[in-house]
Amino acid sequence: MIAATTSNLSIQTPKHGQTGSATFQQIKERYQAAGQGHLLSYYDDLSAEEQSHLLQQLQDLNVERVNRIHQKATTCPSPMLNNQAALLAPLPEECFDSILEASSEKSQEWQTIGLNQIAQNKVGVILLAGGQGTRLGSSAPKGCYDISLPSSKSLFQIQAERILKLQRLAQQQPDAVANVTIPWYVMTSGPTRPATVAFFQENNYFGLSSENIVFFEQGTLPCLTFDGKIMMESKSQIAVAPDGNGGVYAALRGSGVLANMAERKIEYLHAYCVDNCLVRVADPVFIGYCVQKNADCGAKVVRKNAPDEPVGVVCLRNSAFNVVEYSEIDADVAHAINPKNGQLSFGAGNIANHFYTVDFLNKVESFEGDLEYHIARKKIKSLDFQTGEVVAPKQVNGMKLEMFVFDVFPFTERMAVFEVDRREEFSPLKNAPGSGQDCPETSRRDILQQHVRFIESVGGKVVVGEDDKQVYGAPSLEISPLVSYSGEGLAEIVAGKSIKTPITIHTLEELRSSVF
Ligand code: UD1
Repeated sequence: MIAATTSNLSIQTPKHGQTGSATFQQIKERYQAAGQGHLLSYYDDLSAEEQSHLLQQLQDLNVERVNRIHQKATTCPSPMLNNQAALLAPLPEECFDSILEASSEKSQEWQTIGLNQIAQNKVGVILLAGGQGTRLGSSAPKGCYDISLPSSKSLFQIQAERILKLQRLAQQQPDAVANVTIPWYVMTSGPTRPATVAFFQENNYFGLSSENIVFFEQGTLPCLTFDGKIMMESKSQIAVAPDGNGGVYAALRGSGVLANMAERKIEYLHAYCVDNCLVRVADPVFIGYCVQKNADCGAKVVRKNAPDEPVGVVCLRNSAFNVVEYSEIDADVAHAINPKNGQLSFGAGNIANHFYTVDFLNKVESFEGDLEYHIARKKIKSLDFQTGEVVAPKQVNGMKLEMFVFDVFPFTERMAVFEVDRREEFSPLKNAPGSGQDCPETSRRDILQQHVRFIESVGGKVVVGEDDKQVYGAPSLEISPLVSYSGEGLAEIVAGKSIKTPITIHTLEELRSSVF
């Protein structure tokens, strides 16, 4: 087994099209035949070391695949762009359920099913953490971000502690295995990998066992000009960019993670985005719901709060499940209202929390060639082949090609869509401090307000102390995920009692001694 025992070591996606050591002439001919011969234009100007560096990249790159992807992305433009409304339909009722409408018995039933699966070591978690957080304006990976909670915990730490707590809760299930473990598969990209791995190491894996944290790296694709020519960032270096969070499927396979899951006998996965401070990692309710539905894929959604909220919408496209991304949705579709209930027709907002069976993940390879790529037009600093200079353009000059994690949805056989309460489960960190929306301040506020609800919903009272400044509109009451994952376990301590802010609760004992 490779991945499980080398959590903090490098597990690289194998390189595409590796052919052993081809000669310069062979590589040149191959690239000329593919219409990409320009990549060797400056070969003779390079040092011997640079030459071999360039040849190695060219040898490793599957240039024919790059050409195919470009052709597909540009010659069959996404059907989203043409008469989108006619192609789309809201979700069928039989694959949609809402926690907002479910009885407490039903939610409890889902939770028990999910906890049992966790207790049998059948559940793993995939974290998508390869994004660069450009909008947030931080150069560190987003998961390292301190959203200025009183405890100063990073997003990674909050998520790790939720996993730890859930392992402990599942351990109490009657048929639990001896050592309940939720393996955490953390996908990084070239730009986020070193800092992510270092952060986990520096923080001693946040109390988790390092053998159960598996880092793996998503792939990259070359940046292309609009006519499909591969760009270079210097005379010896191809310009590449991460291949989007949909690169996760190839990376899971290529990095040995699917094999690791098989070895651990994992059956179900929860995949999520790094930036949602309220994310219920390995949520037993969601897992139980999807397992009960016998789903092969699942998506959590919240009701969109406005037509232009920047979230994808889960719906049908050409009768198949799909997500129409916020960057690709037409205004008339985004604003359409369902006359029956006055709500948005396409209002199932994707919060990037997905469920998969391992069987489904293993099937992705069989339809990978049919998946779409999305084009992001960008200003890309690159080598000008006329002058030999590296130029930072003022205008958009090229494209990055990305796959989205939900691009596999059309290929599911049994999809389940689960609506959850936004207040409890969705507060994304997208924008820079001070922007007022989906920013560090709203993340902090939403966690602290949730913790106030944890206390109040079981009959406790939160007394706001005079020295609590209620920064960003929430009393300073923080409860560690190690004390409560989603509000459970507090009632017997706080019901009928009060707790005074500001206060940060790290342990149950601390909570016991703080109530009055
Ligand atoms: C994403 C969803 C969108 C959803 C929204 C909710 C996708 C494609 N879009 O949009 O439908 O409504 O979140 O917040 O999922 N990532 C990688 N590798 C990459 C790019 C991104 O791992 O190459 C990761 C990021 O680290 C992050 C996640 O994917 O954890 C989402 O990326 P982000 O760019 O923030 O997505 P949004 O545009 O906000």
